[in-house]
Amino acid sequence: MIGKIYGTGSSLPKRIVSNDDLAKIVDTNDAWIRERTGVARRRIIKEETTVSMATEAAKKALEQSSITAEEVDLILVSTISSEVILPCTACEVQKNIKAVNAAAFDINAACAGFLFGYNTAQAYIAAGMAKTVLVIGSESLSNLVNWKDRSTCILFGDGAGAAVLKAEKGKLLPSVSHSDGKKGEALTCLSRHRKGSPARTRDLQAYMQMDGQSVFKFAVKKVPKAVEEVLEEAGLKADDIDYFILHQANRRIVEAVAKRLKTDIEKFPMNLEEYGNTSSASIPILLDEMNRKGKFIKGQKIILAGFGAGLSWGAALLEW
Ligand code: ACO
Repeated sequence: MIGKIYGTGSSLPKRIVSNDDLAKIVDTNDAWIRERTGVARRRIIKEETTVSMATEAAKKALEQSSITAEEVDLILVSTISSEVILPCTACEVQKNIKAVNAAAFDINAACAGFLFGYNTAQAYIAAGMAKTVLVIGSESLSNLVNWKDRSTCILFGDGAGAAVLKAEKGKLLPSVSHSDGKKGEALTCLSRHRKGSPARTRDLQAYMQMDGQSVFKFAVKKVPKAVEEVLEEAGLKADDIDYFILHQANRRIVEAVAKRLKTDIEKFPMNLEEYGNTSSASIPILLDEMNRKGKFIKGQKIILAGFGAGLSWGAALLEW
């Protein structure tokens, strides 16, 4: 069996924060941010939360799929920015949408999280352990960002995206998931609740800290490799793929991946100009935008690729 996407949804905070707005709080400017990252604006939560955005995205995905909440038997939420540790975001979503027959748990794989969630959903479906799965990525990264650190605060945004997968007869399509814990220090955020730390204080280590150039080098090397592994297993070439939906970290990373795969950049849709890097929400938000614009045609081949803290990365082939 294989999980087919029956519907997608997304949810974005109403508040828009432009590069010029950020230039009022840190020493930066619109031209630097656009040139180095491609980001022009991002959405930042006000009343919204990781749970509320995940819930709204899930409801929209279910509505589009004409699948009822009672039919869902598994909810996977990828997040690194839940407001609470317990209960998990997935259980909160289960409660909110009244998916009374679903098991629910969270996945922490940072910016690779939606991809890992998608692969987990496919594995459950292929094993016959689930028939209808909601995969969600939801992030309130603004809660983890040090708003005094210009090297990170300009990159990130908040939002959520979701996809409903339903089991159909068919062969599981190739996918890969990788991690390299040895390189974990490139991108860290220590828990405010950890032993020995000034609990719940705005301790600097409790913000996201990043070695930007290491992450950049990692992404442009490992993502094309993961995509090539998937293509090889599928017996396909990059030219056979209609769209590459990459985690929206940075325009220069997406362009470098397209170049390494010797593929037209037109096949790499981007929305990071509007939303910045929303970690595990970026792939499903982009999927939903493309889907609602009618860009996907039945039978098209799409590659999803995620990468981020851990370090973790992966890719998956899907047929629309
Ligand atoms: N505005 C103006 N100047 C800045 C800013 C800013 N916001 N941030 C840094 N600078 C300055 C630095 O201080 C430095 O100044 P100096 O030369 O006087 O020392 C100069 O700009 C260059 O800084 P670098 O860090 O070398 O800039 P770089 O070209 O590497 O760009 C960036 C930084 C955009 C973070 C880049 O490294 C990058 O894209 N890395 C990828 C990381 C990424 O996308 N992470 C997202 C999270 S992880 C994930 O999603 C995979």
